[in-house]
Amino acid sequence: MRARAPIIVVGSGVAGLVTALAAAPAPVRLLCRRHDGDGTASALAQGGIAAALQAPDHPAAHAADTLAAGAHHNDAAMVRWLCAQAPAAIAWLERQGVAFDRDGDGRLQLGREGGHGAARIVHAGGDASGAALVRALHRRVQQAGHVQWHGGVDVDALLLRDGVVRGVRVCDARGQRHEMQAAAVVLATGGIGALFARTSNPPGAEGSGLALGLAAGAPARDLEFVQFHPTALDVPGGHCLPLVTEALRGAGARLRDAAGRPLMTGLHPQGDLAPRDVVSRRVWQARRDGGRVWLDAGDVRGDWTVRFPTVLAACLARGIDPRRDAIPVTAVAHFHMGGLAVDADGRTGLPGLHAVGEVACNGVHGANRLASNSLLEGVLCGRRLGALLAAADLQTVSRGRSNWVARGNALSPTPLAELRALLWQAAGPERSAADLERAIRSCAPWSADGWQAAVAHRLLDAALARRASLGSHYRVDSALARLAS
Ligand code: SIN
Repeated sequence: MRARAPIIVVGSGVAGLVTALAAAPAPVRLLCRRHDGDGTASALAQGGIAAALQAPDHPAAHAADTLAAGAHHNDAAMVRWLCAQAPAAIAWLERQGVAFDRDGDGRLQLGREGGHGAARIVHAGGDASGAALVRALHRRVQQAGHVQWHGGVDVDALLLRDGVVRGVRVCDARGQRHEMQAAAVVLATGGIGALFARTSNPPGAEGSGLALGLAAGAPARDLEFVQFHPTALDVPGGHCLPLVTEALRGAGARLRDAAGRPLMTGLHPQGDLAPRDVVSRRVWQARRDGGRVWLDAGDVRGDWTVRFPTVLAACLARGIDPRRDAIPVTAVAHFHMGGLAVDADGRTGLPGLHAVGEVACNGVHGANRLASNSLLEGVLCGRRLGALLAAADLQTVSRGRSNWVARGNALSPTPLAELRALLWQAAGPERSAADLERAIRSCAPWSADGWQAAVAHRLLDAALARRASLGSHYRVDSALARLAS
């Protein structure tokens, strides 16, 4: 018997919202933990979207910067496609109602961030770009007749029928479980930053979708590549910390050590705007050596309430006026380049299961993502996957050999906190075989108890296996690292 069932999209960040919109007219059920669509990493994104919009900038230059940041570990064809499509993504977002910041003559304002050879970051609401995108896309989804929003649920199992993913099981706020059939399942569940002791991600970014895909046997790729952002607000004892956007350094802010000396002088030709791994490592080392690190934004011109309202509010809430006072900053886990291995259209290695956005790895970011390429990826890959699903002849097969694959229990708070500290110490901006082996031994007993530990274990194994430093993965014990020090 053949019946029609919806496409199930799990996650309400930019990648999930765009996939759901682009799948029209196919029926979509969008499942997410929150009712209001908040709580995603997309909504916290500050910088904006990179796009080479006008000469002398060119998509080829954007692609060259993306490859250089990614240590040429990227899928070059994906990079060329992403950068060539970026101007069209900006135009499409404007048609969805995103109001990007413009100057007095109506031209798009372009910011500059680390690793970019040109000012090419389009932004909205100053440093509130992600929130502006999520708001506009959420509104479109609410208006779209083909999308049914289903908030307040956690997807904790996949249904396989004759080896093809054909449904999900959700757990609601009362702990009750419900099964849903699907024509196809899309994971758009975001990253893993919250598995580290310090992160710019929201608390829910623990790799729930990655864990589900791994449990079902979907192949993963590049799990060892985690990007650390050099500047989050250094709140002692904090876990999920407010980001202090790189755009501030693009506007003239400078990192300083505890003695007030410029932190990046002599380390890289791009100084404070060097690729993120370089700056993060320097911040990490300075803090490890006992000092605090400060961002001096006193020379940043313009009205902070317009240009940097998010950073301003986060600082003021903690008694720091960044227009006057240096901002205490720390490196944090920010973005996972690795994830479920997908092809250019978002297909995982498991039939019926797709992944998009940070949970997926199509190779576009290589070993280290270039600033402001993540919302871009979410928009473009979401549109591509949605269009593929809209065009496919998707049917639900209700007969066949079925089995459920569950993600398993979540870790309880104490081992979870210990796991975060372990990952931060062993798989942070600096790694070594000895630390990774120790962490794997400590983590092993928890892997059977909680899916967060199973994800961490896979990451640690991948980091141990890659013995040479590359991009964000920095092995202090590799020959190259020894030569550089
Ligand atoms: C930032 O605003 O510094 C972060 C932007 C990004 O992650 O690309």
